[in-house]
Amino acid sequence: MKIIETKNYKEMSYELFKLYEECVISNPSCCLSFTTGGTPEGMVEFFVDAVNQKCLDISKCTMLNLDEYVGNRNGKYSVYTWMHEHLYNKVKIQPKNKFYIDAGALNQEKEILRYKKILSKHPRDIQMLGLGTNGHIGANEPGSPFDSTMFIANSFESTILATKELFGLSYEETPRQMYTMGYTEIMAAKCVVLAVSGRKKALVLKKLLEEPINNNCPASYLRNHANFILIYDKAAGYLLGK
Ligand code: PGA
Repeated sequence: MKIIETKNYKEMSYELFKLYEECVISNPSCCLSFTTGGTPEGMVEFFVDAVNQKCLDISKCTMLNLDEYVGNRNGKYSVYTWMHEHLYNKVKIQPKNKFYIDAGALNQEKEILRYKKILSKHPRDIQMLGLGTNGHIGANEPGSPFDSTMFIANSFESTILATKELFGLSYEETPRQMYTMGYTEIMAAKCVVLAVSGRKKALVLKKLLEEPINNNCPASYLRNHANFILIYDKAAGYLLGK
């Protein structure tokens, strides 16, 4: 495990961006897997800037996502919408492949099989993750077994409320379930990077690093990955060692 502590969110975002940039430069046909939400916003801004201003060539890359809400593909909360608003609609060059989970798929079992096939054809060079305040990664909530493969998860109340707040939704319109890569697909990436920012994540970051690996803190399992990089800012790290 490699740990990078940064001063603040902006520096954390830049460190994250550099990992993605290095990936593209060292292997232009790499497969980059993204997470969405508050954590990666700054990183994606740096990434868009590098493509548009510094000619970072993503034309041979494959891009895909960790998870997706069950709901409306074009809903303002969907991963599909987030990826377009923050990345695909902003870059001058498009990646060779863009893959999505279909939030509105009628046959959910079939959708899982379809996406699993995509994942097996496109091994990830890097997987970015954010950290839930309850320790979740993707939608692997506390208690999920460590041998899980892609599935539909029922979101915990804290996750539902975080989604509601992030997208300014009413409780009724906030999705309750998510398609998510399981631990198996997450751990299959060559490099897994977890980014953590802000005091509200401090307690869970402390658990992740200072308690034994256990599925009450799903992200603790990442410590078993041979190439796990943890980037957190000072605010998130303020309880460490105390
Ligand atoms: P956030 O969410 O990046 O919006 O803080 C992280 C997560 O819940 O996975």
